[in-house]
Amino acid sequence: MAERENLFTTIKYKFEKIKYFFYGEKFFKKKRYDWSKYPTRFEIIQNIIKFKNYKSYLEIGCDRNQSFLNINIDKRVGVDPVEGGTHKMTSDEFFSNNNDKFDIIFIDGLHQYEQVIKDVNNSLNCLTKNGIILLHDCLPRTLWNQIYPRINSDWNGDVWKAIVECRTYENIDTYTCIADRGIGVIVPRKNMNKLILNKNDFKGLKYKDYYQNHEQYMNLIEHHDIFLTIE
Ligand SMILES: C[S@@+](CC[C@H](N)C(=O)[O-])C[C@H]1O[C@@H](n2cnc3c(N)ncnc32)[C@H](O)[C@@H]1O
Repeated sequence: MAERENLFTTIKYKFEKIKYFFYGEKFFKKKRYDWSKYPTRFEIIQNIIKFKNYKSYLEIGCDRNQSFLNINIDKRVGVDPVEGGTHKMTSDEFFSNNNDKFDIIFIDGLHQYEQVIKDVNNSLNCLTKNGIILLHDCLPRTLWNQIYPRINSDWNGDVWKAIVECRTYENIDTYTCIADRGIGVIVPRKNMNKLILNKNDFKGLKYKDYYQNHEQYMNLIEHHDIFLTIE
């Protein structure tokens, strides 16, 4: 049964790719990141918790708790409408009823630009003063990895567009750490390197824009510089 479902998904993705090839963007250059050379998301999260002496963690999108169960901290809350975590609901449902504050929030739910921006703004409202927001899947390697809705098995969605938008805000300071598919880092302080763009249709950005303006748009940092960035 599972094999049939996998076969069906593979055929569906192939069909969607052919359709996209004719009607969608045609820019196929690749960003050549080898993620196996970098620390994992949970190592980065745990090191930040230790460095900042954080006490509370919120994860949006837990799946099979691959990260969630690897995080050691006093208070751990996880939200996912399907599986994993502690609260079986969407992030919107969770935030609409939540009154708690968190030191560190890891956004890894629905990888769609509009939802990610909502998750960021809701997270900012329940972040402690010295807190930090991290986002997963900010650095797609190919056009296919970032198309929403998903048409590839290895998928990051268009989370990167939310990072570009955050880079233009005055009141938050946003970076992308080169590790584990791109870890967005948002610090609630004045933007120290504000991105000036002459357009505000972030959803309409193309993969080619990302490829050609990569460093400037994403404000890249090496993983060993993350502590300097957030201190
Ligand atoms: C990529 S997985 C998360 C992986 C996990 N955080 C990890 O580190 O391995 C994305 C998860 O987001 C969940 N999700 C989808 N839509 C969501 C929403 N609106 N709110 C919260 N979670 C959502 C999915 O059910 C899925 O389990």
